[in-house]
Amino acid sequence: MKKAKVLVTGGTGYIGAHTAVELFNAGYEVLLADNFSNSSPDVLDGIEKITGEKPLFEEVDCSDINAFGLLFEKHPDIRAAIHFAAYKAVGESVEKPVMYYRNNLFSLINLIELMNRQNRSSIVFSSSCTVYGQPAKENLPVSENAPLQPATSPYGRTKQICEDILKDSAMAYRDKLNVILLRYFNPIGAHPSAFIGELPRGVPQNLLPYITQTAAGLRDFLSVYGNDYSTPDGSCIRDYIYVCDLAKAHVAAMERLLEKSEEMKDNIEYFNLGTGKGLSVLELIDLFKKSTGVDVPYRITGRRAGDVEQVWADPTLANEVLGWRATTPVEEVLASAWKWEKKLRGIN
Ligand code: UD1
Repeated sequence: MKKAKVLVTGGTGYIGAHTAVELFNAGYEVLLADNFSNSSPDVLDGIEKITGEKPLFEEVDCSDINAFGLLFEKHPDIRAAIHFAAYKAVGESVEKPVMYYRNNLFSLINLIELMNRQNRSSIVFSSSCTVYGQPAKENLPVSENAPLQPATSPYGRTKQICEDILKDSAMAYRDKLNVILLRYFNPIGAHPSAFIGELPRGVPQNLLPYITQTAAGLRDFLSVYGNDYSTPDGSCIRDYIYVCDLAKAHVAAMERLLEKSEEMKDNIEYFNLGTGKGLSVLELIDLFKKSTGVDVPYRITGRRAGDVEQVWADPTLANEVLGWRATTPVEEVLASAWKWEKKLRGIN
């Protein structure tokens, strides 16, 4: 007997697919929804290979209320949703802001409206540490109480506006809506099976896919965006969290919403999801070589516009309240990313 039916929007995306696997492992009935705008149907096969079961799937654009409404008519037993469906490329959002606002905001608004037609609804929202911008040094590591900063890109702004929409909705629909917002730091790595992993379209914008593609020979060298920051080695610092650990935090959040909601202090809660440890770009390159034995040629280039110098999480609240912790050693995480890249490229 399965637990509640959980809708995962953006379910064939990078974090969505890994979360689907963990929800499945935890006994939930998982319904994935995606329009493949930044993913491929092959991901469904990958999930099936891991779980041994074909996932329930609906191809739908969540920003289209009519199409999304039909999904809810077909599945009136959806108890909760994890909302990943969103565009996420910072640079693209600067060029196409309207496209970002339309997709990211409408999808969430539609979800809230459709979930609200039920007696009780529970939503987990995929937010980002981008809402903290560059925290003041005394606020590092960043806790949930750190002040939010104005967003530096339309993408970042959509995350902040979505958080506000959920906050207002939670207040207005106090008797029927429970929300958990998860602010991710930098998700990396792939499922240990290498059946699912990150699939960037075109030239990767994020660091680790660029590293693995360079290691695989697809790119000549990695550009390290600046070594003149005021960090120990001059390169930027981030909190890199394993995508499978991150996925497990969603299961913990779901359990809190569906099984322990009486423990919630408010009907909306916020959690930082990170390891609590910051690593610089140069340290990550070095660790990649140590864990895989593969060298990554790199060059120091200029800073990237809009980059934050250093940010890492204080994950204490998630550790204590969700009973969740990022446990996988970074060497193992980097090895998983390399295994996935090798599989994609047919390298032994
Ligand atoms: C960015 C966004 C974040 C978003 C995430 C998802 C900002 C400030 N943050 O995170 O909100 O959720 O993307 O895609 O925009 N780097 C290199 N060379 C490269 C690529 C990256 O040196 O080729 C460096 C960057 O300067 C940065 C670090 O690697 O210091 C991580 O970069 P990236 O993976 O793009 O993530 P963020 O910029 O932290």
